[in-house]
Amino acid sequence: MAATSKAATAEQVAAAYADNKLAQVLYHDWEAATYDEKWSISFDRRCIEYARDRFEAITGSPDPLPYAAALELGAGTGFFSLNLKQAGILDAVHVTDLSPGMVEAAKANAEMLGFSVQGRVADAERIPYDDNTFDIVVGHAVIHHIPDVEAAFREVLRVLKPGGRFVIAGEPTKVGDRYARRLGSLTWKATKAVTQLAPLRDAWAKDKEALDESSRAAALEAVVDLHTFDPDELARMALRAGAVGVDTKTEELTAAFVGWPIRTFEAAVKPGALGWNWAMFAYGSWKRLSAVDRVLAKAVPARFFYNVGITGVKPG
Ligand SMILES: C[S@@+](CC[C@H](N)C(=O)[O-])C[C@H]1O[C@@H](n2cnc3c(N)ncnc32)[C@H](O)[C@@H]1O
Repeated sequence: MAATSKAATAEQVAAAYADNKLAQVLYHDWEAATYDEKWSISFDRRCIEYARDRFEAITGSPDPLPYAAALELGAGTGFFSLNLKQAGILDAVHVTDLSPGMVEAAKANAEMLGFSVQGRVADAERIPYDDNTFDIVVGHAVIHHIPDVEAAFREVLRVLKPGGRFVIAGEPTKVGDRYARRLGSLTWKATKAVTQLAPLRDAWAKDKEALDESSRAAALEAVVDLHTFDPDELARMALRAGAVGVDTKTEELTAAFVGWPIRTFEAAVKPGALGWNWAMFAYGSWKRLSAVDRVLAKAVPARFFYNVGITGVKPG
């Protein structure tokens, strides 16, 4: 885990409203030290399986494994690429992110896992690598932060070797984002109210400083979350950038109805109050509902699901 992030000053936050890239760096640098805890990110069987299943759901596993040279954009603390490496899907991993704090966090997580990875600060709109360098480019929950997503796809295709693949997972759909935000805000208010009750306060309530910090984070979150996606429009964007073999996949319907209140509840209580058994319960519930969602996907239009992932190939 990272230990490098500092809270942004009031002046920096004010400047961030005028400069989106600065906002991204401030917000994510700030989040880096607590990001794994906030999102229950780990590098054990639970998250290896989660990352591998998302990857396979999107690609259908068409290529021989592992991909030798892999780049992750907006890697954060390394959740996607480090777990895909542990799953045997990626070999040599380069973690990049616009936020220096996140790059440090990802490198620290890699070191903790005993991996040697390359890490670099990089903007996905101007990737600092040569043409035709990577066999695969991956990303998770990143392109909704990028102002010009089509420019990022063009850059991804430039740094991929001919025939190389990109896989971007975990992006919010237009419809899904609406219900997730509503459920999240209701859960936040309810959890704050309930954890202030006398019998629960000591063990569960976040202290005032942590709550104030969460509120400032929520204000900046509205600035850094730039897009939600319609799956077909997203595919057209990748095609316009020059990709072939483009395919999208949506996931999480009932799993999102339950998952978002769970994730918000986790973020709204005192850090460490919930523990490992809770994390396994939350993941187990999410998995059971995801199985239901795979059946529902036969009848419910793709755009109603919460998450969209996309894959495509550089013409070879
Ligand atoms: C929601 S976090 C996801 C992190 C990680 N991929 C995960 O799933 O845990 C989004 C990440 O994208 C990064 N980011 C935002 N804008 C970016 C850009 N233009 N280029 C590269 N990374 C960017 C942020 O700094 C942040 O670490």
